[in-house]
Amino acid sequence: MARAPENLSLGGSSPEEIARDIAYRDVLTRIETLLSEPCDWVAAMATVACELHHAFDHYHWTGFYRTVRPGHLQVGPYQGGHGCLDISFERGVCGAAARLKDTQLVPDVEAFPGHIACSSSTRSEIVVPILTSDGQVVAVLDVDSNDPDAFGETDRLHLEVLAADLGERWGKEALQAMTK
Ligand code: SME
Repeated sequence: MARAPENLSLGGSSPEEIARDIAYRDVLTRIETLLSEPCDWVAAMATVACELHHAFDHYHWTGFYRTVRPGHLQVGPYQGGHGCLDISFERGVCGAAARLKDTQLVPDVEAFPGHIACSSSTRSEIVVPILTSDGQVVAVLDVDSNDPDAFGETDRLHLEVLAADLGERWGKEALQAMTK
């Protein structure tokens, strides 16, 4: 599994930022070890959601939405309270990440047009798309926080590296599941 480069300057590198960076490197190492066993796409998503969710105090909902048919996401393995089941690419932060194939970092969900309020306590979120090697969106990794402005560049950096690894290893399998 890949890692974010060690020497990146992260948002001025405050002590909090440095601690978060270290926590990501620890949890990603743990995930790498866990996923080194034979493991299918669902087992991988469940393991990632669990490990990330319990590693960070600012994570209050952590999970995957899978592309189940063109333009459509459905909830996958997650941790936290009840999540919405079905999201079109046209709706919400998850939809935007899938449609634009780009990370959505939302410091204030109230200010995001079309945000889907699965939980009224959510204040901020980050959603990272997971792509196959030829650029098809097979899922998004969605992390929601009850804290405003909870996510920053450190989160983006590590989650994008993780998402790229997941897409590379399980993208083809995820695609096959989608077209069945
Ligand atoms: N974050 C979402 C909806 C999914 S849940 O909050 C679990 C969105 O607006 O895309």
